[in-house]
Amino acid sequence: ENHIIRNLPLYGKKVLITAGPTYEAIDPVRFIGNHSSGRMGYELARTAARLGAEVTLISGPTYLSADIPEIRTVRVVSAKEMYEAAHEVFPGVDIAILAAAVADYRPAAPVDKKIKKKDVSLSIELEPTKDILASLGAIKKHQYLAGFALETHDELENARGKLHKKKLDAIVLNSLNDEGAGFGKSTNKITFIDREGNTIPFELKPKSDVAQDIFTEICRRMS
Ligand code: CTP
Ligand code: CA
Repeated sequence: ENHIIRNLPLYGKKVLITAGPTYEAIDPVRFIGNHSSGRMGYELARTAARLGAEVTLISGPTYLSADIPEIRTVRVVSAKEMYEAAHEVFPGVDIAILAAAVADYRPAAPVDKKIKKKDVSLSIELEPTKDILASLGAIKKHQYLAGFALETHDELENARGKLHKKKLDAIVLNSLNDEGAGFGKSTNKITFIDREGNTIPFELKPKSDVAQDIFTEICRRMS
């Protein structure tokens, strides 16, 4: 390793990223999920690696792959699997950014045989999943912990509420309202909010540039 690598801002740092949706089984062939593509999380992992970090990417189901040696990808399916993988990795990292769109609810009693159709309505009882981000906030020591917030109304207020409730260092507010931002898109418009009360809005830009902005803000606050 030469001096160029040692001078990278995240050289020697370990970074955890969560990305993508989670799938919660209803029966062997059906699930509850969401439209997350995983792109924002994968861009964060790539950017962290480019800045010199050793990265663990915990990914829900997505067609994306991060084919570089500096990124170790752990593939999971459900919120429960993501929770367990995140808790295994978190104690050893310096920075954790949770960008996954974790299902908030899962079928309370998934069945092991395919549900057959009938002429009557069907109800599926749901139970809450555990909040991975909040659970890491509760055990956090030296780590810099950041989450995302997806809001449709009272954006800043709701995002700040999540930042404090989950004991985070920062939260990235994702603006769904703007044309071209959010799910399935290659661009995003964010506001970076830290626990000191600073609120930094960014322009709509490619997710790779958004990832760079996020790490610039985090690096500034770490040293
Ligand atoms: N998150 C998580 N585990 C969950 C739910 C959410 O780690 N079971 C994380 C997400 O990865 C994100 C942050 O919490 O970084 C906020 O997710 P969001 O869905 O915006 O907020 P919730 O707290 O789930 O509240 P709500 O969906 O009701 O707005
Ligand atoms: Ca949620």
